[in-house]
Amino acid sequence: MIINMVQYAVYLDNISFSYEKHAVIKNLSLRARPGEHIGIVGGSGCGKSTLLKILAGLYQPDSGEAVIAGERLPEKIRKQVALVMQNNSLFPLSIRENITCGHPVPDEAVWAACQNASLTQWLERLPNGLDTNVGERGNQVSGGQAQRIQIARALCKDAPVILLDEPVSALDQDTGRSVLDALCKLTDGRTVIHVTHHQETLDERYTIYRMEGGRMVRG
Ligand SMILES: Nc1ncnc2c1ncn2[C@@H]1O[C@H](COP(=O)(O)OP(=O)(O)OP(=O)(O)O)[C@@H](O)[C@H]1O
Ligand SMILES: [Mg+2]
Repeated sequence: MIINMVQYAVYLDNISFSYEKHAVIKNLSLRARPGEHIGIVGGSGCGKSTLLKILAGLYQPDSGEAVIAGERLPEKIRKQVALVMQNNSLFPLSIRENITCGHPVPDEAVWAACQNASLTQWLERLPNGLDTNVGERGNQVSGGQAQRIQIARALCKDAPVILLDEPVSALDQDTGRSVLDALCKLTDGRTVIHVTHHQETLDERYTIYRMEGGRMVRG
């Protein structure tokens, strides 16, 4: 059994999760080998974001087994994953602090992440560059810029498991394209769980699953 688990970067076995009495995830199992890309689709409210929060070590399942990058403890899981959220999850701090999350990251590494996240052109036009404050809940930056800042953060973290929640929703076509390009650089060679309502944005590397009735079925 142990040998079985360690060959997976993501190993969910028979997990269930409820908010109070509202059961959202019911005996769900999911496995991803290192470097595998999994796309998850499913109706609004079926539990996709909840599942990503479990995979990110933000919530613990009520029952079942969750082993992510060989870790079971939420605080250890959180070090192994990078999460790009559906809703803006920026801190009211500078762009640099949002990317480094307070870790001592050399400037060259921050700029390299910005380059790969298609942020440089925009940053060069800002009078304060990386030191620009993103405002309360990131209200000083657009949705596309906020998503690319999150992608730069994920690139800097260099985690083996990448969790994406609708990273190209509500963007115009050009911005959507640059976010997709940034995502390609982020996901290359890593294990990816990508939740989307737009299956057409997932390329042939992805195996698609559908979430239905709290479980996972092949898409
Ligand atoms: N913090 C919370 N407390 C209580 N219920 C919640 C909470 N977050 C989500 N829910 C409920 O759990 C269910 C699953 O929500 P979730 O956000 O995981 O859905 P989703 O599949 O990501 O939907 P969408 O496609 O709209 O993003 C919904 O019925 C939602 O109302
Ligand atoms: Mg969601």
